[in-house]
Amino acid sequence: MRHLLQYFFLLFLIPVSSTIPTISFTTIPAVHSLCTKDQQLSLLHLKQSLTPYNHKPYPRLYSTKVMYWDSRTDCCFWDGVTCSSGRVVGLDFSGETINTGIGYRSPIPSAIGNLTSLRYLDLSNSNFTGSIPKTMGNLKQLVYLNLSSNMLNGPIDSIQWENLVNLIDLRLYNNLLEGSIPSSIFALPLLQFLLFSHNQFSGQLHEFSDASSSYLLSLDLSSNNLEGLISSSIFNFHALESLNLSSNNFSAFPFNGPQQLKNLNEIDLSYNSLLFFYNGTTSSYSSFPNIVRLNLTSNKLRTIPDFLRYQSGLVKLDLSQNQIQGMIPKWIWGLDLFSLNLSCNSFSGHVPNFTTSVVDLHSNQLQGPLPSLTAEFMDYSRNHFSSSIPTGIDDSLYFLSLSSNNLHGIIPTSICNPRFLQVLDLSNNSLSGMIPRCLSAKESLGVLNLRGNNLTGRVSNLEFPGWCSLSTLDLGENQIKGEFPKSLANCSGLQLLNLGNNLIKDAFPCLLMNLPLHVLNLRSNQFYGGIGCPNTNGTWPMLQIIDLAHNNLSGQILARFFMTWKSMMADSREKAKVLEFSQEQEGEFGVGYSFEDTVKVTSKGSERVLVKVLTAYTLIDFSCNKFSGSIPKEMGAFKSLYVLNLSGNAFTGKIPSSFGNMRPVADAGIATHLSHNKLSGQIPPQLVKLTFLEVLDLSNNQLVGRIPTGTQFSTFPKDSFIGNKGLWGPPLTVDNKAGLPPPPTVNGRPPNSGHHHEVNWDLISTEIGFTFGFGVSIGSLVLCKRLSKWYYRAMYNIILKIFPQLEERIGIHRRHVHINRRWRR
Ligand SMILES: *[C@@H]1O[C@H](CO)[C@@H](O)[C@H](O)[C@H]1NC(C)=O
Ligand SMILES: *[C@@H]1O[C@H](CO)[C@@H](O)[C@H](O)[C@H]1NC(C)=O
Ligand SMILES: *[C@@H]1O[C@H](CO)[C@@H](O)[C@H](O)[C@H]1NC(C)=O
Ligand SMILES: *[C@@H]1O[C@H](CO)[C@@H](O)[C@H](O)[C@H]1NC(C)=O
Ligand SMILES: *[C@@H]1O[C@H](CO)[C@@H](O)[C@H](O)[C@H]1NC(C)=O
Ligand SMILES: *[C@@H]1O[C@H](CO)[C@@H](O)[C@H](O)[C@H]1NC(C)=O
Ligand SMILES: *[C@@H]1O[C@H](CO)[C@@H](O)[C@H](O)[C@H]1NC(C)=O
Ligand SMILES: *[C@@H]1O[C@H](CO)[C@@H](O)[C@H](O)[C@H]1NC(C)=O
Ligand SMILES: *[C@@H]1O[C@H](CO)[C@@H](O)[C@H](O)[C@H]1NC(C)=O
Ligand SMILES: *[C@@H]1O[C@H](CO)[C@@H](O)[C@H](O)[C@H]1NC(C)=O
Ligand SMILES: *[C@@H]1O[C@H](CO)[C@@H](O)[C@H](O)[C@H]1NC(C)=O
Ligand SMILES: *[C@@H]1O[C@H](CO)[C@@H](O)[C@H](O)[C@H]1NC(C)=O
Repeated sequence: MRHLLQYFFLLFLIPVSSTIPTISFTTIPAVHSLCTKDQQLSLLHLKQSLTPYNHKPYPRLYSTKVMYWDSRTDCCFWDGVTCSSGRVVGLDFSGETINTGIGYRSPIPSAIGNLTSLRYLDLSNSNFTGSIPKTMGNLKQLVYLNLSSNMLNGPIDSIQWENLVNLIDLRLYNNLLEGSIPSSIFALPLLQFLLFSHNQFSGQLHEFSDASSSYLLSLDLSSNNLEGLISSSIFNFHALESLNLSSNNFSAFPFNGPQQLKNLNEIDLSYNSLLFFYNGTTSSYSSFPNIVRLNLTSNKLRTIPDFLRYQSGLVKLDLSQNQIQGMIPKWIWGLDLFSLNLSCNSFSGHVPNFTTSVVDLHSNQLQGPLPSLTAEFMDYSRNHFSSSIPTGIDDSLYFLSLSSNNLHGIIPTSICNPRFLQVLDLSNNSLSGMIPRCLSAKESLGVLNLRGNNLTGRVSNLEFPGWCSLSTLDLGENQIKGEFPKSLANCSGLQLLNLGNNLIKDAFPCLLMNLPLHVLNLRSNQFYGGIGCPNTNGTWPMLQIIDLAHNNLSGQILARFFMTWKSMMADSREKAKVLEFSQEQEGEFGVGYSFEDTVKVTSKGSERVLVKVLTAYTLIDFSCNKFSGSIPKEMGAFKSLYVLNLSGNAFTGKIPSSFGNMRPVADAGIATHLSHNKLSGQIPPQLVKLTFLEVLDLSNNQLVGRIPTGTQFSTFPKDSFIGNKGLWGPPLTVDNKAGLPPPPTVNGRPPNSGHHHEVNWDLISTEIGFTFGFGVSIGSLVLCKRLSKWYYRAMYNIILKIFPQLEERIGIHRRHVHINRRWRR
């Protein structure tokens, strides 16, 4: 130990507190003494390796720092260089790349190995590629090595790590390194930080030697491809504070090892294949150090690990996404946890009253009465609770989801007691009675979802005051009557409004046009009159889904009404702006991955960002109303429309030839339903150009002439054209070479008018709410997915659920979806 301390004093002249050496490079004295010749040469050699002059017409300089290294000056004064007694001890290129050429990347020059006095080397975040040079093993003085966030690849076992006995901090995270992790690394005696996450290391971890660093504080091997059992020798790292083995394929962890780990407080074993725990005696369990946070999300556990019983210091416990069955053991409620996540398992039985603050029990098979609503965050959705909602509700509650249970009775007014209630989801139960008026007046509320109950009363009784901050309001599928509540105009941040499938009777609420809606559903009510809204200035630039089907709306649809719906009209350039917007939104709830980096879809040889595909899905459903007049030709400007359903109205005139201009952003296919109208004239030949037209339903109109022939047209079934007396040609009839009009089709079967392309509202509210509103919290209602890491996939699934028929089509491309694993925060 003495020589060790000596060593540190010698190197850094920094105070050493306790027996654990501490480092801080900001305290390296900037001693600029004259550079020795050999050091200068080595640096120039390095510069040369980083400056490939053979690139014409311009030499590409790798680093701004290196660019100004001038052989006429003392190398100890060069940018990024730190000297001590004329020798280079520190080199910092981190984040220094400049790209004067496109995509130029350099390997780390092996000449780096000549700088044998180096103690500090930071080449992080500099686009270095290739494998780590073997000469790195010459840098015996290295204390700090940061090669993180580059594109380094290949195995690392040919480097003589055992030489680097002075290493304290080794960061290789965020690269593409592969192969096994050499055990010599784990044997480095002074190591405090070993951060290797987000690489492609594979294989098993072997026994850790006795000589393993007893200084190691943080071991992070997460997001690799490591597997097998984790040996209890991992506890040879006596000083360990945090252990992250998340996102590998480990199958067992020694929760009964002989440990003297006083400082271990966080273990992340999430996203592995842990199936069982080493069986020990109860006493060996109780000797396990008291940890504070334990994450076992997404493993293969079938029972709650018993050692937890003795973890009296545990604050956060996540056992979600396992296969645990049976009752929730009583002792778990006695642990004094702050946060407990047991979601997405198969727990059954009753839940007692408890005091834990954050409790997520969603997607289990829990039954019986609901416990008292005393926590701050409670997600009990997707269980079998059957009772009324308890009236005693704690003031501290801010998130409550009781969705998809068997709850009955009324919504108690005490639901408004919690001062900061933000999210209330009681959807998909059998609640009855009226919506408490206090709810619409609740200032803190952002998401209110009461969809799919048996609620009655008049919606016009609800007052939304000036401070309304709702972003999602979903009252769909109830039996709510009355006029549209005019005060909803006060909810100036409303993005999703679903009043569909109720009994609301009113004129079309033009005031909605001033709200920033993304999704509007007024389907199956008794709205009447025109939708022209001549007196509003509203524009709905973000509108993606509008469903007014099955009402009594009438009159003409004027272009003015929809010409401002930029989301649907946008060409790809404008679309990008829309995208930026949704990415900002996303940032708000902390899923900070950049889409561009992560998801690419290969389709027809070109790569597209999947998100662009996702935002492309838009829908207009005006079917089964009494709209009349001609279909405005401006509808052809819906460049990004996915479903257009105008069936079952009284539209007259011709099908606008401008429909031939519709273009989805991706090869999504367009579904256009125009059946059961009074459209006349011929099918415009321009429609033949729509190669991505997936569904075209023109049945039961007054169209005439020959059905155009063309790639896409030949795939439409007969049902698409029946009920038009004057229409002929395939697929209605075999082609008539003589050109005589064919016998008219009589008595056409009612086509599947739009049914196939209805929005699945059951899913849309919560999931769109998740996208636009309260992000992760809402997402957790429905998704047991790796939300952050697989965020895009969730988005993708949402869209598939909303438009189920897409599955098949996108399925084709799915094989080509590849995930860039270099997640950047
Ligand atoms: C640096 O090391 C390389 C081998 O990695 C060697 O060929 C070269 O001569 C050395 N250069 C200097 C200046 O020491
Ligand atoms: C890395 O290279 C890519 C192009 O290959 C470039 O877009 C990016 O900005 C570079 N990163 C840094 C940190 O210079
Ligand atoms: C190591 O590199 C990463 C990436 O640039 C950087 O974020 C981090 O701060 C570096 N570590 C230290 C201790 O400087
Ligand atoms: C463990 O690593 C993963 C990613 O590799 C990260 O998401 C997670 O937050 C880390 N866990 C802890 C406790 O820091
Ligand atoms: C994980 O390990 C198990 C064996 O323990 C193996 O069957 C499985 O294929 C592995 N999964 C992955 C994704 O490597
Ligand atoms: C642990 O116990 C379970 C049954 O309780 C058994 O299936 C398993 O094989 C045991 N594992 C070890 C490593 O002893
Ligand atoms: C596991 O849970 C901890 C909190 O206890 C969290 O910090 C960490 O990010 C989680 N791990 C992953 C991979 O999400
Ligand atoms: C929870 O406490 C309430 C009184 O606050 C009581 O009525 C109820 O029966 C308790 N529930 C359980 C499951 O113990
Ligand atoms: C509604 O709840 C039932 C169980 O009560 C569940 O089976 C169904 O999937 C839920 N529906 C939705 C749309 O969540
Ligand atoms: C809804 O309430 C009516 C009476 O108000 C009742 O007849 C009906 O069964 C209820 N429906 C459900 C699903 O609870
Ligand atoms: C429309 O905008 C004009 C000015 O831009 C404003 O004076 C007028 O009040 C607005 N009308 C409505 C109905 O909002
Ligand atoms: C609980 O776990 C699930 C699935 O792992 C996750 O989606 C959810 O966000 C977690 N809940 C909380 C409150 O963190």
